[in-house]
Amino acid sequence: MSWDLPTRLFHWSFAVVIIGAYISGENGFTNGHELFGLSALGLLVFRFIWGFVGHQTARFSSLLHSPKIIWAYVTAVMMRRPPHYIGHNPLGGLAVVALFAVTGGMALTGPWNSDDILYDGPMAVIAPELFTQFSPIAGKWHDRLHLLVIPLVGLHLLAILVHKIWLKEPLVARMISGTDFANNMGAPISPTRSRYGVGLLVICVAGALSLALLTPNY
Ligand code: HEM
Ligand code: HEM
Repeated sequence: MSWDLPTRLFHWSFAVVIIGAYISGENGFTNGHELFGLSALGLLVFRFIWGFVGHQTARFSSLLHSPKIIWAYVTAVMMRRPPHYIGHNPLGGLAVVALFAVTGGMALTGPWNSDDILYDGPMAVIAPELFTQFSPIAGKWHDRLHLLVIPLVGLHLLAILVHKIWLKEPLVARMISGTDFANNMGAPISPTRSRYGVGLLVICVAGALSLALLTPNY
């Protein structure tokens, strides 16, 4: 097994809510934006916890590699002979860290943000004084970070295409089915705790979404 069920559920829901948050944010659909953004926050909280207790490939310990290993992987890709990884490869791991950092920054600054007309994020109700102080800074970072979302997602999709065409590795299929395409890694390790993972994901998203009850709906 390459990706366990909770990680796959996380991935496809995350892709949908990030696209939704981006489009609704750019077009000023504030109610929808709040729901997409808070869902992204909930999913990221889940993924953070899953990075410590999830299946082997979902763990943060398998995400970061030394520059030497990353460079060795890059040169092997150029020669079309990369070693096989059942989870993230060393270069992909770096891209995932960047995606988490940027989307995480947006999901954390969002609840402190305001459109200066009708909408104040839920932190305005939870911590009104801090909100007055931090909202302009959070808004500035929310705005700055959004410029990185499309380039990073574009790079992500380009990398997947390179894997498919140049290396003949069907990564999308395994992010859908969870099953690895090369079974040369010895006995496959089955994920455990999948059911708890799905439950945790639902609780995290519901918890984050409940913050929307604090803000007026108009
Ligand atoms: C990863 C999740 C998120 C993404 C990708 C995202 C994306 C965006 C984008 C592209 C914009 C328009 C550009 C800008 O004005 O900065 C925006 C604006 C905004 N976002 Fe988010 N957002 C996210 C999470 C949130 C959350 C959780 C909230 C609040 C609960 C929020 C509240 C706002 C507000 C109030 C604006 C309008 C700012 C203004 O008009 O100046 N966002 N967001
Ligand atoms: C806004 C859109 C997207 C975002 C933010 C996103 C984000 C991510 C993240 C964070 C991961 C790491 C998964 C984890 O460790 O939990 C990942 C992996 C992956 N994503 Fe996406 N993704 C997006 C869209 C897509 C789309 C449209 C596809 C398919 C065409 C795709 C295919 C994959 C695949 C195949 C992997 C696993 C890579 C591997 O096998 O090493 N993603 N993505």
